[in-house]
Amino acid sequence: MAQREVVVTGGGTGIGYAVAERFVKAGDRVTITGRREQVLTEAATLLGAVPVAFDATDPAAVENALGALPERVDVLVNNAGGNTDRIRQAPAEGDLAGLADAWRANLELNVYPPVLVTAALKPRFAENARIVTIGSIAAKAGSGSYGASKAALEAWNVDTARALGERGISSNIVAPGVIKDTEFFHGTVTEEWIQSRVGAAFNKRAGTPEEVAGLVFFLGSPEAGHITGQVLHLNGGAHTAN
Ligand SMILES: NC(=O)c1ccc[n+]([C@@H]2O[C@H](COP(=O)([O-])OP(=O)(O)OC[C@H]3O[C@@H](n4cnc5c(N)ncnc54)[C@H](OP(=O)(O)O)[C@@H]3O)[C@@H](O)[C@H]2O)c1
Repeated sequence: MAQREVVVTGGGTGIGYAVAERFVKAGDRVTITGRREQVLTEAATLLGAVPVAFDATDPAAVENALGALPERVDVLVNNAGGNTDRIRQAPAEGDLAGLADAWRANLELNVYPPVLVTAALKPRFAENARIVTIGSIAAKAGSGSYGASKAALEAWNVDTARALGERGISSNIVAPGVIKDTEFFHGTVTEEWIQSRVGAAFNKRAGTPEEVAGLVFFLGSPEAGHITGQVLHLNGGAHTAN
């Protein structure tokens, strides 16, 4: 396969790092993005990837980053995101302004990066390009504004797949359950909490970033071209397909 140009948002840590590593190992040229320059540069050095630092929720920052992003994009992995409820103090009961701020934060962090980065790179997508966006089991299971933000991406994914389908471009969501060894939980959960959540999985364990990377890599391949507009679940059976 010719060397592909792959962009992984949030590629400096966790799932994004494992995804970037998977494509680098296949011989692709990988660009990783994120806000923290040092984290990104260190990851890029380890990986043999290209770092481009910007805040993917900020339209002007995305636009400014275009000069450093590849001119042709074969695979875009919209991975940047997270649950802002894990780093903010919960609003007090009845604090509607605080509640609105908390919802806005999760919607901005999870919806804006895929929407803005995909729109910005649209003119650069190669024929048969692949877009893979990291959703979450929370879109089905709940989890407040975080789950709602990931559910919003599922509707956006359908529109994206429909709009780009005639160019052979696919757009899919990979929706993981609990994945260990990332910065997602920001140290806010104990091993007991993780175990209680993974108790719902048929295989009684958390997933790994490498397992998510394997599915993303497949969806990024030419063989996966007839899969589009879909949500693919990766959760050990904690949520079954429907
Ligand atoms: N871990 C899980 O259990 C789990 C389960 C389901 C879905 N997910 C999803 O998987 C994706 C990756 O999460 P993870 O678990 O690997 O956690 P993570 O290690 O915290 O990765 C998130 C990455 O996104 C980057 N990022 C965050 N906000 C950004 C912004 N505004 N602009 C640019 N980059 C930004 C972060 O880097 P900077 O902070 O430097 O910007 C970081 O590298 C997320 O979309 C998350 O919702 C995770």
